Amino acid sequence: ADYQTNKRHRSSDEGQHRAAETLSAHRQLYERHFPLYKQPVEVGCFSLDSRRSFCNDQRQLRYYVQPTKSPDFNLRDGYTSRFVKRDDSVKEKLDHVLKWILANRDKIQTRDQTPSSSALGVDFVTWRGHLTKVLTTPYETQEGWMLAASKFRGSIYISEVETEAAKVNRETRSQRQEEMMYWGYKFEQYICADDVNGTPNPGGVVNTNEAFCTVVQTRLADHKLLFSGEVDCRVKDPDAPPAPGCYVELKTSAEICTPKQRSNFHRYKLLKWWAQSFLPGVPQIVAGFRDHDGIVVAVETFPTSKISQLIKNEFNCWKPTVCMNFCNDFLSFVKSVVKEDDPRLVYLFTWDPHRDVTYAVHRDSQFTFLPEWYIKDMSS
Ligand code: A3P
Ligand code: MG
Ligand code: MG
Repeated sequence: ADYQTNKRHRSSDEGQHRAAETLSAHRQLYERHFPLYKQPVEVGCFSLDSRRSFCNDQRQLRYYVQPTKSPDFNLRDGYTSRFVKRDDSVKEKLDHVLKWILANRDKIQTRDQTPSSSALGVDFVTWRGHLTKVLTTPYETQEGWMLAASKFRGSIYISEVETEAAKVNRETRSQRQEEMMYWGYKFEQYICADDVNGTPNPGGVVNTNEAFCTVVQTRLADHKLLFSGEVDCRVKDPDAPPAPGCYVELKTSAEICTPKQRSNFHRYKLLKWWAQSFLPGVPQIVAGFRDHDGIVVAVETFPTSKISQLIKNEFNCWKPTVCMNFCNDFLSFVKSVVKEDDPRLVYLFTWDPHRDVTYAVHRDSQFTFLPEWYIKDMSS
């Protein structure tokens, strides 16, 4: 059945032995039954410290401290006197994930495989954030993406390449936009404690180099996935479900004053929030609603599993099944294209709103992203 549906929306598909050239992102093509998506299992974690160095531990994991319903947080406080901003012109590609893999190869769950096998036993290695972009593609009208893929020892690695438009946006942000990017991190500081017995310290420095990342394994239909995603905090209760079930995603959003604003929140914000947290199995999202001056006027919890019901009253709204079916078909498309096992070969997949996904092949180019240290260590 999958084969037939695949055939319908791939161009120049001349049968199962030849890869299609493009993949459509039309949402109507993906309104099928929800594909199998296994409960993600955390296989490890890592931290990035205040200097953005990889640490093979959970030192940056923070603890959720529930705020009052109308907490009056001032998100502008500390901008710019207590703010250390990560240099986002540095492209880290998959490097931190690869470091985690090298240090934790024994922790990757391999079924139907001998323990001594050299391969990782997964089909795809990537960042959660890249998959979030794939999931939301059928509904995205503003920003395109470029994803580079290389096959190495049987696994396909997927790493984002910044589009020209994204680079222009990054380099021409207004003062207001720059400050508002800080607000999300400041909200985290009001909510999170560094220690299980601690309380938040809003007088401290916000350093966006710091991160705690989970590494999960799961399966979407017949695609075995290993990916990492940044996690904001966990609940304090030691009897809470094991990770990722104890994790909490924090978000900020403009306060909702009109029906139109509520509708937009459901249609655009909740789609991104749902995709980001559903992928790694993060069960709850705590949202701070702020006014124009960066004061948080309300805090609300959204269970990730309830979001799809919440939006059902919106006319012509997004559907989780469309997101997941598109992702499934995209990964099948990537598998059909990325045949040669060679880390110096990059298949660059490009998508722009209102267009199909296309690809081009590059050998030994600026797009090569699997580093020599990874290839060498994995080959020894
Ligand atoms: P908000 O989520 O409150 O917008 P995340 O929520 O994914 O953990 O990200 C933390 C914060 O980083 C965001 O807070 C936002 O301030 C900033 N941020 C993340 N992605 C961003 C993007 N693409 N553009 C601008 N700011 C971003
Ligand atoms: Mg975060
Ligand atoms: Mg967050």
